[in-house]
Amino acid sequence: MILLQKVSELRQWRQTAGRVILVPTMGALHEGHGALIQEARRLAGNRAQVAVTIFVNPLQFGPGEDFDRYPRTLEADLAIGESCGADMVFAPQVSEVYALNRSIQVLENQLSRVLCGASRPGHFDGVCTVVAKLFNLTQPDEAVFGKKDYQQLAIIRRLVRDLNFPIVIHGVETVREPDGLAMSSRNRYLNPKERSQAPALRQALLLAHESWHHGQHNSQILLRIAREFLKTHALQGREDYLCLVDREELEPQTQAGPNSLMAVAWWFGKTRLIDNLEFT
Ligand code: PAF
Repeated sequence: MILLQKVSELRQWRQTAGRVILVPTMGALHEGHGALIQEARRLAGNRAQVAVTIFVNPLQFGPGEDFDRYPRTLEADLAIGESCGADMVFAPQVSEVYALNRSIQVLENQLSRVLCGASRPGHFDGVCTVVAKLFNLTQPDEAVFGKKDYQQLAIIRRLVRDLNFPIVIHGVETVREPDGLAMSSRNRYLNPKERSQAPALRQALLLAHESWHHGQHNSQILLRIAREFLKTHALQGREDYLCLVDREELEPQTQAGPNSLMAVAWWFGKTRLIDNLEFT
């Protein structure tokens, strides 16, 4: 596996790389990212190169968010990249990616209004801008994203469609701790009490899903079931959102169906955790 940090080196690498499968990340890699890289490796076989990008993108952090304290663990990330089958890691400095007087960006005006976008204005524009740049820099044939950031995945599918990137997008299932908590680089911010209550997010979604399976389709009732559970089991936290939406347009649904997604964001102190469940 090789590490590149300059755009000029990346350009040179790309000329002879052949087919490329990309896994964009912000580093602080955990088993969830490991699963994305392994899936890219599986898709690539020995017919394509697996490229991982590690870049903490300042554009997707709002004022007062955790850009400065976001964990940066390049050494450990490289070891994970290597063990999961990456061929190349691109880990540029901010100045390598953004010109100081940059004046063009990608805006998303529909899917980013809801869920995480509602409390993080500009976040998904930052994501779309950097992902478009990473697509242009690495020119992948396929790219792999996690379903934990379901809204991001839906927006990236839209980005690829609307800007005609010739890239196949793959979504990979969320990897969880043994108690069900979705793996996240932000879990490390939780204190022991918050950590012990955080699996309630997953449990609340499963409870609502079970009611749906038993015939309850009314989304108000399903959301109430999940919310009541969270209020009694995630006491250390408070709600950012709990919604039932369709999986493509991310629009609220009054009735849950096989295209529904229940998504939650919950604050534990200054840490905001997210999770979601596809109703199938
Ligand atoms: O999901 C992430 O880690 C980031 O949002 C991404 C897609 C790498 C863009 O910075």
